[in-house]
Amino acid sequence: MNTVTCIAPVNIAVIKYWGKRDEVLILPTNDSISATLDMDQLHAKTTVMISPDFKEDRIWLNDKEEDIKNARLQNCLKQIRKRSQLPSSINDWKIHICSKNNFPTAAGLASSAAGYACLTAALAKLYKIEGDISTVARSGSGSACRSTIGGFVRWYMGSDKCGTDSLAKQIVPASHWPQMRILVLVVSDEQKKVSSSIGMKRSMETSELLQHRIKHVPERVNKMQQAIIEKDFKNFAELTMKDSNQFHAVCLDSYPPCIYMNNISNSIINLVHSYNDAVNNVKVAYTYDAGPNATLYLLEKDVPAVIGVLDYFFPPNENDTIEYRRGLPIEGVEP
Ligand code: PMV
Repeated sequence: MNTVTCIAPVNIAVIKYWGKRDEVLILPTNDSISATLDMDQLHAKTTVMISPDFKEDRIWLNDKEEDIKNARLQNCLKQIRKRSQLPSSINDWKIHICSKNNFPTAAGLASSAAGYACLTAALAKLYKIEGDISTVARSGSGSACRSTIGGFVRWYMGSDKCGTDSLAKQIVPASHWPQMRILVLVVSDEQKKVSSSIGMKRSMETSELLQHRIKHVPERVNKMQQAIIEKDFKNFAELTMKDSNQFHAVCLDSYPPCIYMNNISNSIINLVHSYNDAVNNVKVAYTYDAGPNATLYLLEKDVPAVIGVLDYFFPPNENDTIEYRRGLPIEGVEP
């Protein structure tokens, strides 16, 4: 028996992926950009085992056995076995997969991104595969391709029909912008009612605003990449907030609407704008994935003041409104 364990972090997009031009291959309608985050409390840990004694492939997620026949899981497994460098006799052995997230699953905290990145990294190690693995992770969950790489990462939408050029590449390593910090404000750990896949499909079918967004994101992505390279926090923050707002506007423009944020999420948005206005500068940016939880991007020097303001308006332990998790961009998946 051979065993490999990996830990993979979540990534939080600052230019969002929302919309697929190919649902099966998971090919997006625009490029997206994220940071891969070092957060002790937000990662997936996956162990994969291969043995001649296993009768069938099996998977356990958070201690519960799941259906190995899941189409996305099968996509990943097929691609990995095709690229395997193991002798063919061993390649035919069955595998067992155990994966755990140390944070709420499917609550809009990028759990599937960390999960599929981790699974792909562990399988790639087990099957001795080298080179890009982001396309394999992408076929499990689109945004997972960005978690296979550290630092600030761009997922290129690509142009070929088979998706070989729809892959993630590092813009800069985390060390390029060591002052960058992240606060995840966990507003709710409930599972979202409309999954990203269903939400995206609905937006593709019904939102006119999404068609507008698809035309304008390419320009925004390039500006964001430039802001990251130049460590221009003001531009980085403004683009991040505008993109999150536009993504949620698209969700509301879908029919029936996908409502991911709640009243607390909206209060955090107001608070961030009031704070930036009060200090007459852009010191902190919010962004929301498909859920009510806020991710704040800010610089290290501003963390104490921002936490002070958050503690004042959302006092800890009072109604348990928000739980903070702190982190910073990191270099990548840990073996
Ligand atoms: O990869 P998925 O299917 O979980 O979709 C992720 C979508 C967003 O988190 C909302 C945006 C993004 O780019 O991560």
